Amino acid sequence: MSKFAIAKNGVEPDAVPKKILYTGAEIPAIGLGTFGSDRFTHAQVADAVRDAISVGYRHIDCASVYGNENEIGKVLAEVIDAGVPRQELWITSKVWNDMHGPGDILCACARSLKDLQLDYLDLYLVHWPFPNFHSPGCDVNSRSPDAKPYIHEEFMKTWRQMERLVEAGLVRHIGTSNMTVAKMKLLLRDARIKPVCNEMELHPHFQQLELFQYCIDNQIQPIGFCPIGSPTRPDRDKTGDDTVDIEDPVVLKIAERLGVHAAVVCLKWAFKRGQIPIPFSVHHNEYLSNLIAATKDHLTDAEMAELDKIDKNCRLIKGQVFLWKDNQRWEDLWDINGEITPE
Ligand SMILES: NC(=O)c1ccc[n+]([C@@H]2O[C@H](COP(=O)([O-])OP(=O)(O)OC[C@H]3O[C@@H](n4cnc5c(N)ncnc54)[C@H](OP(=O)(O)O)[C@@H]3O)[C@@H](O)[C@H]2O)c1
Repeated sequence: MSKFAIAKNGVEPDAVPKKILYTGAEIPAIGLGTFGSDRFTHAQVADAVRDAISVGYRHIDCASVYGNENEIGKVLAEVIDAGVPRQELWITSKVWNDMHGPGDILCACARSLKDLQLDYLDLYLVHWPFPNFHSPGCDVNSRSPDAKPYIHEEFMKTWRQMERLVEAGLVRHIGTSNMTVAKMKLLLRDARIKPVCNEMELHPHFQQLELFQYCIDNQIQPIGFCPIGSPTRPDRDKTGDDTVDIEDPVVLKIAERLGVHAAVVCLKWAFKRGQIPIPFSVHHNEYLSNLIAATKDHLTDAEMAELDKIDKNCRLIKGQVFLWKDNQRWEDLWDINGEITPE
């Protein structure tokens, strides 16, 4: 039993629904995103993590590339010291794309553990299946001369290093992010330790039905990033074709019925569908209402059916910087025709 008191108006961690992974482990059905981009400082994000834990969040989605694990680590040490049992927390981190080489994964994981001030991670993800470096915040049109396509044999060398982290007890689970069905099939064929989760972009305007169902069918828990459609992402990450989930009339109609922000409807859709959303916010009222959304006023089947129909196949995080040849389209990263785009 935790001796850490949850703030008034918060949600007791026991009351937050959980998902059971194929290992039998329990993961909270909502996490807090921590990518502040260039809109929020590392200190603001770390403050939000502290306060979110005080209102009942136990699942935090981190990554080395977000640049703030050091600040978040101080907060984690503080709350554990204040009585939050380590085993009550679910801390995810991700290895960045320039650390896929021989021996790199262990170094990257050790660095995240040191920064986060932890002995183990609950989940460690390969952030992208492309071993390509680009500088943080760079323009979507910038290309690395060293960029490489997905090469399965190379990815498996990276995955073997991930498996060794589990065997060494440094991470409890490993998983993937930004994958496709074609890449997942190869990984499941060759992995000794299957991914427990796949972190993927999921919001009402981008439902990724095929990959979502593939994950469910293979006992891989989908974690949904940009669950609100990342409405205030930097302009460099927007294109003229992008649509806005929280302005969709169907989302707005349900929001009106429930008396909540449209963002909350996107999250309720995620909970009922079965993915784990990891919404970001540094605003107390927002992340608190997002957590409360997991616990009550579930959408009706009719509302879910209406939301199913507003999928616009609108991918927001297109990954253009990972393209490896001139004249490629961002769609080439995503194996649209079901086959891995050749070198
Ligand atoms: N694996 C990957 O490759 C990957 C890629 C992208 C993201 N992620 C993870 O996913 C997390 C979430 O993605 P994201 O931040 O891009 O998008 P998001 O969670 O869809 O959108 C976040 C924005 O939504 C607004 N918001 C949040 N809760 C709200 C509420 N209750 N009412 C009104 N507005 C609300 C906030 O805007 P304001 O700040 O303006 O209030 C916030 O900045 C990231 O932080 C990161 O941890 C992972």
